[in-house]
Formats: sequence, structure tokens, C-alpha cells
Amino acid sequence: MKSAEIRQRFLDFFEKKSHTIVPSAPMVIKGDPTLMFTNAGMNQFKDIILGNVRPKATRVADSQKCLRVSGKHNDLEEVGHDTYHHTMFEMLGNWSFGDYFKKEAIAYAWEFLTEEMGLDKNRLYATVFEGSKEDHLEEDKEALEYWKLYLPEDRILYGNKKDNFWEMGDMGPCGPCSEIHIDLRPEAERALKPGRELVNKDNPLVIEIWNLVFMQYNRKADGSLENLPSHHVDTGMGFERLCMAVQGKTSNYDTDVFTPIIGEIARLSGKEYGKDAAADVAMRVIADHLRTIAFSITDGQLPSNVKAGYVIRRILRRAVRYAYTFLDQKDAFMYKLVPVLIEVMGQHYPELSSQRVLIERVIQEEENAFLRTLDKGIKLLDRIIEKTKAEDYLTVPGNVAFELYDTYGFPLDLTELILKENGLVVNRREFKAEMEAQKERSRSAAAVNTDDWVELIADDTQEFVGYDYTETEVQITRYRRVSTKGKTLYQLVFNITPFYGESGGQVGDRGWLISETEKISVLDTHKENGLTIHITDRLPEDLTQVFTAKVDVDKRIATENNHTSTHLLHYALRKVLGTHVEQKGSYVSDEYLRFDFSHFQKVTDEELEEVAAIVNQEIRKNYPLEESRAVPIGQAKKMGAMAIFGEKYGDLVRVVKFGESVELCGGTHAHATGQIGFFKIISESSVSAGVRRIEAITAAKAEEYILNYFKMMKEIDRMFKSNRGVLENVRELLNENEELKKDVEKFTRESLRIMKEGWKNEKRVIRDVNMIVKTVMMPPANVKDIAFQLKGELDNLVLVIGGVFNNKPHLTVMFSDSLVKDYGLHAGQIVKDAAQEIKGGGGGQPFFATAGGSNPEGVSKALERAEKLILDKIH
Ligand code: SER
Repeated sequence: MKSAEIRQRFLDFFEKKSHTIVPSAPMVIKGDPTLMFTNAGMNQFKDIILGNVRPKATRVADSQKCLRVSGKHNDLEEVGHDTYHHTMFEMLGNWSFGDYFKKEAIAYAWEFLTEEMGLDKNRLYATVFEGSKEDHLEEDKEALEYWKLYLPEDRILYGNKKDNFWEMGDMGPCGPCSEIHIDLRPEAERALKPGRELVNKDNPLVIEIWNLVFMQYNRKADGSLENLPSHHVDTGMGFERLCMAVQGKTSNYDTDVFTPIIGEIARLSGKEYGKDAAADVAMRVIADHLRTIAFSITDGQLPSNVKAGYVIRRILRRAVRYAYTFLDQKDAFMYKLVPVLIEVMGQHYPELSSQRVLIERVIQEEENAFLRTLDKGIKLLDRIIEKTKAEDYLTVPGNVAFELYDTYGFPLDLTELILKENGLVVNRREFKAEMEAQKERSRSAAAVNTDDWVELIADDTQEFVGYDYTETEVQITRYRRVSTKGKTLYQLVFNITPFYGESGGQVGDRGWLISETEKISVLDTHKENGLTIHITDRLPEDLTQVFTAKVDVDKRIATENNHTSTHLLHYALRKVLGTHVEQKGSYVSDEYLRFDFSHFQKVTDEELEEVAAIVNQEIRKNYPLEESRAVPIGQAKKMGAMAIFGEKYGDLVRVVKFGESVELCGGTHAHATGQIGFFKIISESSVSAGVRRIEAITAAKAEEYILNYFKMMKEIDRMFKSNRGVLENVRELLNENEELKKDVEKFTRESLRIMKEGWKNEKRVIRDVNMIVKTVMMPPANVKDIAFQLKGELDNLVLVIGGVFNNKPHLTVMFSDSLVKDYGLHAGQIVKDAAQEIKGGGGGQPFFATAGGSNPEGVSKALERAEKLILDKIH
């Protein structure tokens, strides 16, 4: 059975059991401060499980793109070294939201695996939760009883909290779980040792394939558990592992999910898979990481130097490094694998082919950049090796290896590998200490203490009325305290709110919470797990009264002008540059707007002018906002509404239309484009390969910008006291300046010539030598100039000049070539010695050398010292 069929059969199976099939949520998470990436199928349903949002369907199934590379669930270090862990993988899941529970979840799983997939019943094992004293939880007898309906008791095992109690993070919904494991070993091996002894023992052929979680509890900030209002089922099955079991393979990488990719890596690198253990690991790493990087780019998360972008960058670098070291790939090569990835996964994930060029360019650029760093790092390492050997040491200090790791992305094992070839080792203890210190630094920087919610009104409907109102009467339904870095803030939830919570690039509203006796500032508004959260720095005295919630309207309108302008900008860019332009990110505040989009070269000044002209035309046409609030997503797309890939949209969406610009958007907007008044682009730049950024301002800000510009022009004009116009005046000024420069050069040359003649007159003749020793007050460059002229004019010349310029001492020594030969004089050595007097250093050739220093008082001593050394040689 091909992998595509396995995936489809899973979805069809649950559809037949009355489940609604939903698409995978984006892999990159927005709107949840506790997670960067989707790490489980249940993430997109967290708001439902928490009870913040009511489910649209109580039975749901999907295949979810997951990434386990940070936080609580992190498999990165295993990937490639074993055959069944991945960074990105697909999780097949079925959910019950307050519908069925343990009995049906177990029955469905059993039926799917044994009947639908035809897996051998005798190879399956189930685990159940043994209970936990610290959490005051009993063993999961219920699950045990249901499993007994299908499995003999010796194939049901108890597991501890680590394996059989699932938690998404430190806080939040959780519960006991039952895992299904499969024993894929050959018959002969199975006969020797029962599979039950190998469950959860890291055997690559006795592995977990499905986890059935029974969500019953919520883990609170203090670590205690409370019961969830209703019980849910969350199951997750590793798609790649299921394929391995169904296709009778012994490695995920031997299934059709991976073989074409591995095959292409082998072809491009000229290596065979399965011949050399180190190269095999490298090929698996690359095949795995390629998927992660490609999918994160399509989801809108490009590699960068911060947060989620940095995680992606490091994964890419890990792959490049393996290719470099073990497959001998010294040039960018991963980007060449994108077509084969599309062949394997493009049908189920069409975003891969529609964004192919972007994926390839970004990967290639990242590879090249890292290969350059790698090169620099290797050179640095070479120097360290040389130095360590020269000093007769065998151990390289840990901080050196850490610098290589931190700055150049060298994992410790790479550094150790290179050192080993040179008979050296790293001080691992020191390296670990540096690593710990860094972790501690980022831990304390990121430390946030979030208290549990205090529920004031049990009300789970939070209505947003901010499209129509900027002021309403509200009640606080719950609040909690959050402290970071010595600052305490409060998060408040209202039953109804006019405040727009930061999302879709638009900043959150600010404003006030007002009662008869108090006025509290709302500093910011966020959205988290489906809730709008208002941030304040104090709590009202009486939390239970009715307040007026009032949005800061000036800021809101300025923000709306910018938001509407991003839509017009998007429209104009597609018109001028082409329809390959896709939104890749935006930021809209009351100050300015930022718009990132895919485009493969710099936008020229002419194009920018044209874009701005179109936007301003659309503004003058004064299109009114045409909004439709609850359009089924399919219908919205038919209306031509532009969606951003990687954004999470519901079934019903809001469509925002201004003239010909139609977008899916939840933000707030100008009532009509005319309100924007004026749009001005202030910069165009590159964000990464294939992504450009435009920054612009509108309305009062744009007006202020233009007025300031005019003011400045006027002032410049006034400085000239002539009415020929700024341009003509400036041109003339520059010409004049050129002429003056030439004059100055002429005068300098002339004065140097006069000085040179003066020096000549001061020469002493000692034996056959013409000797000039002198202190001067001029820059070293001028000394050099005169020295070279004199060399051509006087035979047997010894010139020793010391000087101070800008408070810094300098020395110059020059000899005629004949003296270098006859007396063995060496200007470089003499300067080096004499420079000690001016606390400096320098050097050069035998006939000419210079030095600089930091002690101006030492100049005459330095000259004496140099003169003595020279005279010693001459005599
Ligand atoms: N949440 C569980 C897991 O990730 C089951 O989906 O394993």
C-alpha cells in the first residue's frame, strides 16, 4: 500500500465513523506564546480543549504537519542516527470533544490497525498508565479493561508518567494515555525474546505507532491538576512509522515517503545508501531536514536570526554540515532536492509546488551563506590546531569549541572530529559549562511566571464588537497575573470587547477601562488560544463592577489607515511586478506599515514610483470598505479573495474589499480609502533570498514627512542667498569644492617640496653617508612622501624621522639600497627596536619601515636609539 493511500484510508475510516475531516493547521504557530511550532495534532484544538471556544464538530480527524525541535518535545538529536524519529512528521489523529471516550477510542484504533491496515494482531502491544503518587492519580483500570477485549493480558503493559501521561507543555490540558506499540522483528528473533521486554526500550523495531490520550485534566501553574469540564480524546499516530509497519519495512527511510529523496541524495553525491554508516546517517538527516525547511518556508517561516526563524536556520545548518563532512558536498546542494520532495509530497501539499522557486532560492542562499561561515570556522580551527600544537598541548580549551559552536554553528562532534585527525581533543567539561551558562542566560532572560486564571464569571462567550464600536460596557470574566523580569502585568478577559487583539500583523488596540471611580490604561491587547486578552499594569479595586471599555480612537484610526494601505500596496505590487508577488508577512501600527512579499530582485525606483502612484490613485478613488463577515471559505476564494499561506483561517471568513483589492482579513480598516489621504514609501530592502520588504507611512505621518522635507529644502536654499534654485546652487558648490581640492593638493605638494629642501640642508655627512635625523609635526603619510623623493635625490641616504600627529607618535626610517647592502642595515629591525620608546610597534622592509605608538614623549629617545644602532653598524 502506497503512503498516499494509507493517509487517505485513515481519513476515510474516520469519516465513516462520523468524524469531520479538517486540513492540517500551519506548522508555524502564531497566537500562542507557549509554542513556536505545532508539536502535536491537538495544538490547533487547544482552545476547544481548554473550553475557550465551542467545537464546531465533536468528532474530528486529520493529518497534521508537526515539528518537534524545541521545548518539551524535541527529537532533533535522534534524527538521522536512528531510523524512526523525525523533526517534521505527519501525525494522523482523531478527536472527540466531549463525545466518545476511552472505550470507542480504543475500539476504533484496534479496528483501523488490524482490519483496515491488516497489521498482524500478534505483533501489537498496548500500554496503560500505572498511576502517579505525586499527582494522586490511580492506575488507568478503565483503559486496561477495554484493551482486554482485544489483547491477551501479557501484551498489555503498565507505563509510568513519563510514557503514559501526556502533556503538551508545562501547563494546560493533559491526561493518561495508552500507546500502541508494534514488534516488527523477524519471527526468529521474536521467538528468542518476547516483544513485551522491548516495549519503550529504544529498540528500532519495537516502536510506538499510536498514542491515545484521554484528556481529563488541566495542569495549573502551581503544578496541581484540576478536572476539565468535559472529557476529550486526542490521538496521534506517526504516519511515517505506520507506513513502515504496513509496507513491511524496518526503517521509516525505506518507505516510499523517503526512498525517492534518499535516492536523489545518493545520485547527487555519488554515494550509495546502505554502504557506509556515517554517510547513511547524513543522508537520513538531509532527507528529514529538507522536509522541515521546505514546509516551514511555505508556512511563512523563513530562516532568520531570531526565535522560530533561528530554529529553522540551525536545522538547515545541521543538514549542510552533515552533507559537507560525510557526503563531501562543499557547494550548495540541498536546494537541488526540492523537485523530488515535490514529487513525493506535492500532491497532498500543493503549496510545495506553488512556492517551489521561493523554497529553492531560500535554501540555496542559506546553504551558501553557511558554507562561507563553515569555511571561516575551519580556518579558525586550523589556526587553533597550529597554536595548540606549537605550545605542546593536546587539549583545546572548551571556550574555543564553544565559540565555534555558537558563532560558526559547529556542533561539538564536528570540532572533535577535525581535532581528532590532528591528535587533539576538546576539554568537554569546559565546553559543557559554557553551554550551561548560555542556557541559563537565556532562561533567565525568558523567564515568565504566569499565574492561573481567576474566574469571576463563568462565561465562555467572548464577543468582539470592535468592527462596529470603539466603546462598550463590559464585565471582567477572568484575570491572571504575569510577571517577567521584575515587572508585573495583568491579563484581563471581558465578556465583550471593542479592543482588537494583536493578530494578522496589526498591533493590538490600546485604551482605557473606566468606572465611576477609576480609569485604568489598557496597554496592549493580545489574542491567545481564541481569547482576547487586555494587558494592564494594575487591577481595578472592584473587579466585579461594569466598566466602559474605550479604545484609543486616534491610534486605532492611524493603524487602520496603514492596514488598508497594505491591501492597496499588495494590489499595486501584483499589478506592477506580477502575480508571483505573495504576501510573506506584515506589520501594521499607528506609526507605519511594513509589507514583506516574494519577489526575486530589487524593486527599481521606477517600479516603486509606479506602485506608489497606483496606491495613491486608489486612495483618491475613495472606495468604501465593503466587508462580508461570515463567508464560507470556498466562496471567499471564488470571490478572488487573496489568502496568506500559513495563516490559520476558520470555515467562515471575513472578506475585505476596496475597489479591486479583495483579501481574507480579520483586521480593522478605514471606512473609505480617501480617509488615508496620502501614501509614501520610505524604504525598499531585502529580507532574505526571494523576499523583499517595503516600509511606508500614510496620512498625518506622510504629510509630516513631506513637510519636513520641504522645510529642509527651503533651509538649504536659504543658505545660498541666491535665487538660482537649490539644484543649480548645489551643483555649483560641488564644482567649486572640486577646484578647491585641486588647489589644496597643489599647495601641499609645494610646501612638502620646500620642507624637503630644508631637510637636505640639515644633513650631516658621516664617512660616505648622508644622514638626516629630525623631529617633525606632520602626518606620517607626508613623511613617507618626502622620504621616497629624497631617496631618489641623495645617494647613501640615512633618514630617521620621528613625529607627533594628532597626539600620536610615529617613526620612519629609510636607507639607500647601497647602504642596506654595504652595512647590513635593516630599517624594519631598527624601527621595531626604537618603537619601544614610543610604546608601539611596527616594521617593514630593509630599506623602509614605519612604526606608530602611544607615548609621544618618547620620540626623541626613539630617534637617539635608532641613530645609535645605525652608527654602530656604519662604524
Ligand atoms: N497529543 C498526543 C501526542 O502528541 C496524541 O496526539 O502524542
